[in-house]
Amino acid sequence: MLEYLRDLGAQARQRLGQVRKLEELGEWKREYLGKKGAVSELLRGLGGLPAEDRPLVGRAANALRAELEAELERREQVLQQEFVQAALRTERVDVTLPGRRPAVGRVHISHRVLRRIYDIFAEMGFQVFDSPEVETDRRNFRSLNIPPHHPARDMWSTFYTTREGVLLRTHTSPGQAWAMQAYCPEPIRVILPGKCYRYEQVTARSEFMFYQVEGLAVGEGITMADLKGVIIAFTRRMFGSERQVRFRCSYFPFTEPSVEVDMDCILCQGQGCRVCKYTGWVEILGAGMVHPVVLRNGGYDPQHFGGFAFGMGPERITMLKYGINDIRWFFSGDLRFLRSL
Ligand code: DAH
Repeated sequence: MLEYLRDLGAQARQRLGQVRKLEELGEWKREYLGKKGAVSELLRGLGGLPAEDRPLVGRAANALRAELEAELERREQVLQQEFVQAALRTERVDVTLPGRRPAVGRVHISHRVLRRIYDIFAEMGFQVFDSPEVETDRRNFRSLNIPPHHPARDMWSTFYTTREGVLLRTHTSPGQAWAMQAYCPEPIRVILPGKCYRYEQVTARSEFMFYQVEGLAVGEGITMADLKGVIIAFTRRMFGSERQVRFRCSYFPFTEPSVEVDMDCILCQGQGCRVCKYTGWVEILGAGMVHPVVLRNGGYDPQHFGGFAFGMGPERITMLKYGINDIRWFFSGDLRFLRSL
């Protein structure tokens, strides 16, 4: 019997030495030390032995169990150590790998051009004045000398709201009324940038939402020469000192006289191309001397005060500056376009 115990011990130790992984230790433990393991089995069988042999064999079996438990613990420690060492060897972090670049956004091209416009007009003493995108019929039209049912309303296809007399502004010109309200009776020199909305078919040349920058100067002794000087200075600062500018007679209800301003086409240097429709000129803005009715609506006496106003589309300016042929690129959210500028 004692011999059997010795063999069992030897076998258990040998098998323990062969266990290479921590997970396999459980199996070994079950086989030798578990409830149904070899040692327990043996202790249970003690009753079948002759009475005089029992104490001796019992003591030897208990001793074997204690030894095996101790060895299990040692083996476990060794395997644990090996496991950690292996992990340290194979899972080392390579700190020399290049990092992952975070995606960096940037200011939208419309706003970059807007900021450039602000800078140029700031040099000429114009302040930026904010006004609302949701407007009243009164400010968007009537304050600008466009009565209800006036055919000039056809120039601005309008998004009306379900609230009577409330609409999305079709241009930044109603901002003139806000500026006059804020400044009157002081002189004014402001630009009014912001979004405008038109109930129109979206095409390569027109969007239902776009930006405008309105300009307004009100004071004593302001003449058309001031308007021309400011527009020419702006055009040359924006597009280059060699640019040619021409003023064409036009009509807007809120200016008298009214002009449209063309610049020689920067894409073909005035030679004629698709962008300028082979005329050599491209329109960049509308302008004029503020109509007496508009001045009076704003609280200024047209006998003493005069002024000029203009309105331009920064997306159009950007299209000319960068040779972009479709306004729909601006707000389609296509990052390929936005990153390319
Ligand atoms: N509001 C006009 C438009 O959207 C543009 C414009 C023309 C504004 C002449 C002006 C101006 O201030 O004087 O078509």
